[in-house]
Amino acid sequence: NAYDEAFRTARDDPEQFWGEAAHNVAWFEPWSRTMDNGDAIFPKWFAGGKLNVCHNAVDRHVESGRGDQPAIIYDSPVTGTKQTITFSELQEQVSRLAGVLVKHGVWKGDLVVIYMPMVPQAMFTMLACARIGAPHSLIFGGFASKELSVRIDHAKPKMIVTASFGIEPGRRVEYIPLVEKALELSSHSPSKVLIYNRPGMVSLDWEEEMSTARPHDCVSLPASHPLYVLYTSGTTGAPKGVVRDTAGYAVMLTWTMANIYGLKPGEVWWAASDLGWVVGHSYICYAPLLHGNTTILYEGKPVGTPDAGAFFRVLSEHGCSSMFTAPTAIRAIRQQDTNSAIGAQYPLTRLKSLFLAGERCDVETLNWAKRSFGVPVLDHWWQTESGSAITSSCIGLGNSLSPPAGQAGKPVPGYNVIDDDMQEVTPRTLGNIVVRLPLPPGAALSLWQNQELFKELYFTKFPGFYDTMDAGYVDEEGFLYIMSRSDDVINVAGHRLSAGALEESVLLHPGVVDCAVVGLEDSVKGHVPLALCVLRNDVVKEMVSLVRETIGPVAAFRKVLIVRGLPKTRSGKIPRSSLANLVNGKPYTISPTIEDPDVYKDIEKMVKQELRPTG
Ligand code: COA
Ligand code: AMP
Repeated sequence: NAYDEAFRTARDDPEQFWGEAAHNVAWFEPWSRTMDNGDAIFPKWFAGGKLNVCHNAVDRHVESGRGDQPAIIYDSPVTGTKQTITFSELQEQVSRLAGVLVKHGVWKGDLVVIYMPMVPQAMFTMLACARIGAPHSLIFGGFASKELSVRIDHAKPKMIVTASFGIEPGRRVEYIPLVEKALELSSHSPSKVLIYNRPGMVSLDWEEEMSTARPHDCVSLPASHPLYVLYTSGTTGAPKGVVRDTAGYAVMLTWTMANIYGLKPGEVWWAASDLGWVVGHSYICYAPLLHGNTTILYEGKPVGTPDAGAFFRVLSEHGCSSMFTAPTAIRAIRQQDTNSAIGAQYPLTRLKSLFLAGERCDVETLNWAKRSFGVPVLDHWWQTESGSAITSSCIGLGNSLSPPAGQAGKPVPGYNVIDDDMQEVTPRTLGNIVVRLPLPPGAALSLWQNQELFKELYFTKFPGFYDTMDAGYVDEEGFLYIMSRSDDVINVAGHRLSAGALEESVLLHPGVVDCAVVGLEDSVKGHVPLALCVLRNDVVKEMVSLVRETIGPVAAFRKVLIVRGLPKTRSGKIPRSSLANLVNGKPYTISPTIEDPDVYKDIEKMVKQELRPTG
């Protein structure tokens, strides 16, 4: 079938395969070599070619008559806003913003940090950077000052573009104090900070700048020019900024929209992720626009904004053809609307498929999603490093719409996950998943300012292969099953976090001497981090000596029990007599004025464990 043929051609003659795919992208100057594979770890795709991703994602569609087609549908239940932005309007905004960046000294090769919530201005900024060849590094709004400062220090941006605030259910996340604090912590300072003031704030910097800006044209860029740097978590403490190229990414993403997701230009597509993650970069912003699809930018949650029907409403209201989300989101919806009674109110007439990725999807969740959304639900697997799926059902190539549960697809053409050299791989045997070199277009170019770490991390353990650091197995039919990470990365609600980095944070506490963070299974988020800690012995010693110093040795104070809380009356008094009875194993009464009677039970448990382990 079409998939097998595509996979074979991409494996045996990658230049022929991707050379053909590249004709769907507009070039300012054609490439001279489809793949310069002088160094297998750093293949140069479309060497000699010149192009611009923003031109391909925006201007080209205006030129070809799609100017009035919606490019972005911004749907924001948290602000009660809906806005449709056509390709022509997008071009106007992005070219002006590019003018603002250039006016303030940002130029080709200068890095711009973007720290913004899910507003269209975040996408305008990404595209404006792409327009002038300034690589962007977009940092997820859920990261606080410390993480932000580490990235600023490493990325050394010429400019930071931020917004006044983000909105989380029930609270405003003030971005400016977070940025200020991050700049205090970091040794690098950008020359300018551009602030988009959302309605509700007084200052008008963004508007002022935009109204006086001169639109800027797309700059012609070499194929391997860095489009963005996206920081992700890994084993090492060193910041891992995955660098993406221009041409390979544009070619691969354009190809995936038709061949993996089976979409035609003009159809509406929704990736319910955050721009701060790779899924957001690739499938909220770049891929749909490159391919001439309308993309939905959703500022809200799967539940609580306002209810568990949110995804169904958005799909129905905007006539989405296909959607991409994380299993966590489905689990959250299912937990609140088990029979999809709320969801069923919204007819999904256009929806053809639902794609999942980001974490392992359990079979229950998968089956529930199939029933509730009434379409094929397809798990696929990828990583920040790959930029697009490594394994998937390729709908456009005729792959099955009902693959076995638990699988994450077959290798996408170009990803030689299982190749001739590795035929000894026995079905259903767990192992490290590796990919034969060269990697296809669009995969990470390198790590920002750290080629050595790039080589060392991904290419030394299995020479000739890319180490995905995921473990899994393959079945008799060639479907891949992803089981876990083989490094210390934990996956929380589809977010990739380094256990090591969490441990470092916990160890900042002076009372903790040792700590291991592991993933604890969670019914909604897949896993949540659990810290196993050893408290410093001398915490108790210090308390003892404090008492000796202030009261005197006569107190013979030695014993301390660390408890979760103490019983207190509404006026704040501690009922010592009942506690004394408790620790001495005597009957005690709980006064009705005690605020939280449960703490007695906790203390009783602790006493049994710590003071009378045998009794
Ligand atoms: N800016 C600031 N804070 C953020 C944030 C952002 N962009 N995103 C999340 N947070 C905060 C939340 O407010 C929450 O803070 P709190 O502990 O003070 O309440 C905390 O980070 C954890 O957030 P979240 O993981 O969203 O948990 P939740 O319990 O609020 O919601 C889900 C649960 C399932 C709804 C949510 O995890 C979700 O939407 N997951 C989908 C994940 C996803 O799309 N991943 C993409 C991978 S492809
Ligand atoms: P990220 O780089 O943040 O996209 O996280 C990538 C990691 O998420 C992968 O290395 C996997 O461990 C995990 N992951 C992504 N997609 C899947 C999937 N479909 N099934 C299982 N794990 C996945």
